[in-house]
Amino acid sequence: MPQIRFFAQDGTLVESVEAPSGTRLLDLAQIHGQPLEGSCEGAMACSTCHVLIIGGDVDKLPEPSDEEEDMLDFAVGASRASRLACQIMLTADIASLDVRMPPGVIDMSRK
Ligand code: FES
Repeated sequence: MPQIRFFAQDGTLVESVEAPSGTRLLDLAQIHGQPLEGSCEGAMACSTCHVLIIGGDVDKLPEPSDEEEDMLDFAVGASRASRLACQIMLTADIASLDVRMPPGVIDMSRK
């Protein structure tokens, strides 16, 4: 099973969890209390699931689609490491992935 490590905005390790193969990264993050709103539930219409992929098997992830890249243009603090968590499926060939919350992330669903 992929080992996913979640990091806070400041780089502090928050949690390390095993992901059942086939789990969507956004769903895993929300189950484990990460501050990702995911308000459009994967329709690529919000970018509130923006994360930074900072290590692990990042090269094993499929390239972002044009639609994902377009939506990332609207994400605060976006960089070359940016991805939409709703578009990342965690498959068995991914041994590990390090996921950091981007600058300015605010989970409005917790207000
Ligand atoms: Fe809206 Fe990912 S949940 S773009």
